[in-house]
Amino acid sequence: MSDVDVDANDPFVFKYRGVYFQTEYTTPQKIDSIQDFKVKDTDVFLVTYPKTGTIWTQQILSLIFNEGHRNGTEAIANVFRVPWIEYTHSKVDYDSRPSPRLFSSHLPHYLVPKDLRNKKGKIIYVGRNPKDAAVSYYHFYNVIVRLKQVNDWESFLDRYLTGEVLGGSWFDHVKGWYTHQEDFNILFVTYEEMKKDLRSAVLKICKFVEKELNEQEVDTIVEKATFKNMKHDPLANYTNVSTDHLDMKNGTFLRRGTVGDWKKLMTVAQNEKFDKIYSEKMKGVPINFTWDIN
Ligand code: A3P
Repeated sequence: MSDVDVDANDPFVFKYRGVYFQTEYTTPQKIDSIQDFKVKDTDVFLVTYPKTGTIWTQQILSLIFNEGHRNGTEAIANVFRVPWIEYTHSKVDYDSRPSPRLFSSHLPHYLVPKDLRNKKGKIIYVGRNPKDAAVSYYHFYNVIVRLKQVNDWESFLDRYLTGEVLGGSWFDHVKGWYTHQEDFNILFVTYEEMKKDLRSAVLKICKFVEKELNEQEVDTIVEKATFKNMKHDPLANYTNVSTDHLDMKNGTFLRRGTVGDWKKLMTVAQNEKFDKIYSEKMKGVPINFTWDIN
């Protein structure tokens, strides 16, 4: 284990192998141990950069694998149905979970289990316009407990652009996963395509995970995965998570759920700066996602 970076001014985070993690939830040892995590062929990993549609896709996956219903698992929140691999507090016994097992992760491509690189298991990567993700993250930062708060948008945006936020740099995350896609058994989906046509996105995911559902089951999943329904579904919207971890008095996961919200917050100058950095960082990356950066 090497290169752990701890900021004396911020005891809540540490930087390890290029990414910021919350001290409360994980350790460098835990991150290292993930490399040897034994993946099964039937495992499905949901990988996202924060605020790009994680809990939405957790809901979709969790419903797909339960044919749209929750029978027998009514009391289990998605955070346990699609648990995180990198956090120590998720007290889930991965080995005894019945297959197919579902997992979530915000890790960059080089920190996930080696088996995934050998094309064991499947990965669904959800991307979102980084400007909307930035605004969503800014609002969410104050919901996360035991994290140094960032009070103004301008300083948050600077930190986001330099990757000094939990999860690291959006640019590095997306670029890494996109340019290494040949190494993995991976499907890319975007937040924007889910917004545009949720049914088609659900069917695309079903096809990838080889789950055949009838029309009615697909309809039920689409219905239960709408913003409106998830906002009131405590098993899907993380409102059941302890206030030791998330303080929902300061905001919610289901905030706006729209495309283009950044336009309300970003100034012209901030947008120009963002575009400049975007074109520098994403130069030569033939990214073919459906978001419209502007
Ligand atoms: P906003 O803050 O822009 O509203 P994550 O789960 O990765 O943290 O992402 C959270 C973002 O996804 C939030 O964006 C949230 O509103 C949005 N989201 C969650 N469920 C959604 C849904 N069913 N439909 C649309 N957006 C959803």
